[in-house]
Amino acid sequence: MAFKRTLITAALPYANGELHLGHVRSTYIPADIHTRLLRFFGAKAIYISGSDEHGTPIAVNALKEGKHPKEYVDYYHRIIARDLKDACIEFDWFSRTTSESHRKLTLEFFNTLKKRGYIYKERVQQFYCERDKRPLPDRFVKGTCPYCGAEDQYSDYCEVCGRTFSSLEVKSPKCIICGETPTIRDSDHYFFDLPAFEERLRKWIASGRVRINPEVKHYVMNWINEGLKAWDITRDMDWGVPIPGERNKVLYVWFDAPIHYVTATKEWCEFNNENWEDYWKSDETKIIHFIGKDIIYHHCLFWPAMLEGSGYSVPDAIIASGTMKVEGHVFSKSRGYVVYVEEDYLANGLDPDALRYYIVSYSGHTRDLDFNWSTYGEKVNKELVGSLGNFSYRSLLFAHRSYGSVPMGAVDPEARRQVEETIETIKEGLDEYEFKKICDAFLGLADYGNRYIQSHEPWKLVKESPEEADEVIYNCVWLTKAIAVLMEPVLPFKAEKVLKLLGLPPNQPLEQALAPLDVGSELGKPEPLFRQVPDDEIEALEEAMVIRITRAKG
Ligand code: 2FM
Ligand code: ZN
Repeated sequence: MAFKRTLITAALPYANGELHLGHVRSTYIPADIHTRLLRFFGAKAIYISGSDEHGTPIAVNALKEGKHPKEYVDYYHRIIARDLKDACIEFDWFSRTTSESHRKLTLEFFNTLKKRGYIYKERVQQFYCERDKRPLPDRFVKGTCPYCGAEDQYSDYCEVCGRTFSSLEVKSPKCIICGETPTIRDSDHYFFDLPAFEERLRKWIASGRVRINPEVKHYVMNWINEGLKAWDITRDMDWGVPIPGERNKVLYVWFDAPIHYVTATKEWCEFNNENWEDYWKSDETKIIHFIGKDIIYHHCLFWPAMLEGSGYSVPDAIIASGTMKVEGHVFSKSRGYVVYVEEDYLANGLDPDALRYYIVSYSGHTRDLDFNWSTYGEKVNKELVGSLGNFSYRSLLFAHRSYGSVPMGAVDPEARRQVEETIETIKEGLDEYEFKKICDAFLGLADYGNRYIQSHEPWKLVKESPEEADEVIYNCVWLTKAIAVLMEPVLPFKAEKVLKLLGLPPNQPLEQALAPLDVGSELGKPEPLFRQVPDDEIEALEEAMVIRITRAKG
């Protein structure tokens, strides 16, 4: 069906660290490009997210730093917002899960689901520290992994073998505050009845009404077939959305976090005088969640069940990226296999648009990406400097030097066919969520442009046949414009630069790719669009990474 509008959400980053390449590759850059492209093709699209500020990892980190969790998340919320902006990731709304509006909405979900019988209470056993006189949920306990025997692992997840488990399974548990062995005590917890949604989820996934890639569909169906378990949505602590009528109990962070998709929509709608129910209680809105592969369970099972049980629309597409490696190793902040957007990339004078390009053009979106500095350098130098930047620079430099404005000419039919084909391929890339296809398409047009200028040799024609030279340069300027318009969703900073030289503002619509500039339009003096990244710079970046990894090993 044709939708009236699209709501694009990006998984919420935890407010416990700086933005890194894992974040931007899995979610924020692809979703940003998707939103820009939808608008480019004339659709109404809203892009939202926010920082995920609850949960035991944040409470534990704040404790380690001797800060109140609110002070801790205030800091990281600001840092993340800065990093997103610097990478040109533009949300229509980016707020926080610690807001009052989010607390209220989370409780509305909780109360509705409880009233409808989908949330019930049950007694559980959990760790308790007699010395600190407090329950110890999830990360407040460390111990030995029950599966692989790795020591010093949090009680819910092993960083070494990647398995998750329930707290009481961890061996030799210790309180992370005082180091004592905890005791086990009873506690009353609320559970979400996920099994009640089994048939509805099975039908929904099988029906194909939701777009998820076949591999993901396969293992979501396997989870359903293995039988779903009720979900403990309570944590005995004071950091989170407090459960009414209970002391020292909050909702599990994974219960409140996805609700923020609705909170952010409501906040945006209020600000823009729109009706939020048009987004979450209507078939006319397409809801797309962009996520990383590690949170498929939450988005394909828990979240749609919560929505269904509360009377909201379920998502229309869940786009999960492949995983990210760094120099061949599993991405890991604690082991140093991480690249921070600000500290490791932008602060080294590297180009934000080149990052956006590299991230999405390296491999298909659902494929894994192994980041390494040498392929980064090769791609930038060959594709962005050698092809894309080279074509626009030489075309505009020639035009500026020889004419100062657009010379007389007419559209070359073959060039027009190339632009039309590029638009078609970009449209396909948009529909298929294949960002690499989009990049390959506009890069292919730049390659065509380079062949065009090279084979026509306007530098010779200027003397031998000035009218033919005019014609060639007219088409080169137009191709430069077409490329700038088409690359803008991926390379917004650079597109703006080129468009400015052509006397145009940013955010040009699709039709502008097919429209040559008027004869006589003034042209600015170009500078090289991208900077070559030399080998010694790549070596220095590699060296910095080795130092971090060595330090992490201790
Ligand atoms: O895995 C994560 O990084 C979570 N902060 C994602 C939350 S997405 C959504 F459900 F809110
Ligand atoms: Zn203790």
